[in-house]
Amino acid sequence: MTYRAAIVGAGAPVAATNANLEGFSIGYSHARGYLACSDVDIVAIADINEANAQALASFSGGASAYTSLAELLAQEQVDILSVCTWPTLHAEMVLAAIEAGVRVILCEKPMAVSVDEIDRMVTAADAAGARLFVNHQRRYEQPYAGARRLIDAGHLGELVRVEGYVGDGWDLMSWGSHWVDMCRFLNADRDVSWVLAAADSNGNVRYGHFVEDHMLLQFGFADNSTLALVHTGAHTSGAGLIVIGTKGTMHLSENSASLAVESGESSDLRQQYLDIRPDSRQGFVDAIADIVSSIADGGTTQIEGVSGHLDTEIMMAAYASARDGHVKTLPLSDRSIDLRAN
Ligand SMILES: NC(=O)c1ccc[n+]([C@@H]2O[C@H](COP(=O)([O-])OP(=O)(O)OC[C@H]3O[C@@H](n4cnc5c(N)ncnc54)[C@H](O)[C@@H]3O)[C@@H](O)[C@H]2O)c1
Repeated sequence: MTYRAAIVGAGAPVAATNANLEGFSIGYSHARGYLACSDVDIVAIADINEANAQALASFSGGASAYTSLAELLAQEQVDILSVCTWPTLHAEMVLAAIEAGVRVILCEKPMAVSVDEIDRMVTAADAAGARLFVNHQRRYEQPYAGARRLIDAGHLGELVRVEGYVGDGWDLMSWGSHWVDMCRFLNADRDVSWVLAAADSNGNVRYGHFVEDHMLLQFGFADNSTLALVHTGAHTSGAGLIVIGTKGTMHLSENSASLAVESGESSDLRQQYLDIRPDSRQGFVDAIADIVSSIADGGTTQIEGVSGHLDTEIMMAAYASARDGHVKTLPLSDRSIDLRAN
């Protein structure tokens, strides 16, 4: 069977480099993923900017171009839809696609900008039997995928702490989302029970929603004592993870991985598990390949929607905690938090 894929939110043909850290044209990364699947055709692209829609349609091998998702959904039979617009549009687009009968949706992170949106997206997907994936593609990338296997194999002992940091002015929703997800991933996707955060927020807006200038977030898990820490902001630079276990430590980033373990076999283990592949876009290709094969064989993927829901709920809890200074338990009882800026 050949699956018919569509993408909403192409981005500009050349990704922008702007001071506000928006405009990465992530629609192209999704298109590369579908183009790498022999059993997928990209049939349509929608973008409110017609030139952007046309450019990605031609990059995708002659797909049809539309200037609205509504028009695309009215005209095309779509098996898989990628939602690559800004987070403030994710909920309405996912809901429209489900309503139109699309049953597989890959939504960019962060999934949504309010708890109410998460609830409505999950409820609609469950009611329709639709599969909603949230794109935390780093789970498929090295060195992170190997780090999970190394931890699962016990080489680091018990996991004590996972710390994700991102500087250079980045915020929790726009970048830190990956590290929230990664802290859970490296701790075997255990449930998260509590969240505590402090933030310095001055009303800055990115991607249409409020973001902090700096944040320090901690969270803990239901059935082990691992502590997750994520910090964001302008006071540091670079992005990476520090993983501390009872038998060793790791420092991971896109371009490097270092490992020190008590047993003294660090260099062998590093080679075996943490080899770095130079193309970070491979994660998109592997995530999409996994989704497509899971449709065919009914299996599950690393980025099932439930994982994205949890990540987004943790981030909402972080902002709620930073606002009132209290620990939040999950699921959040106050479901009114909303980061939308307009
Ligand atoms: N997974 C990752 O590693 C990763 C990396 C960067 C960005 N992202 C995420 O990807 C998403 C998109 O970010 P981006 O930087 O690629 O954005 P972008 O600005 O580059 O592209 C968004 C596109 O959406 C179009 N658009 C806006 N309103 C629309 C509408 N109503 N209908 C159709 N199209 C519309 C715009 O014209 C633009 O072409 C965000 O959620 C962002 O967080 C993910």
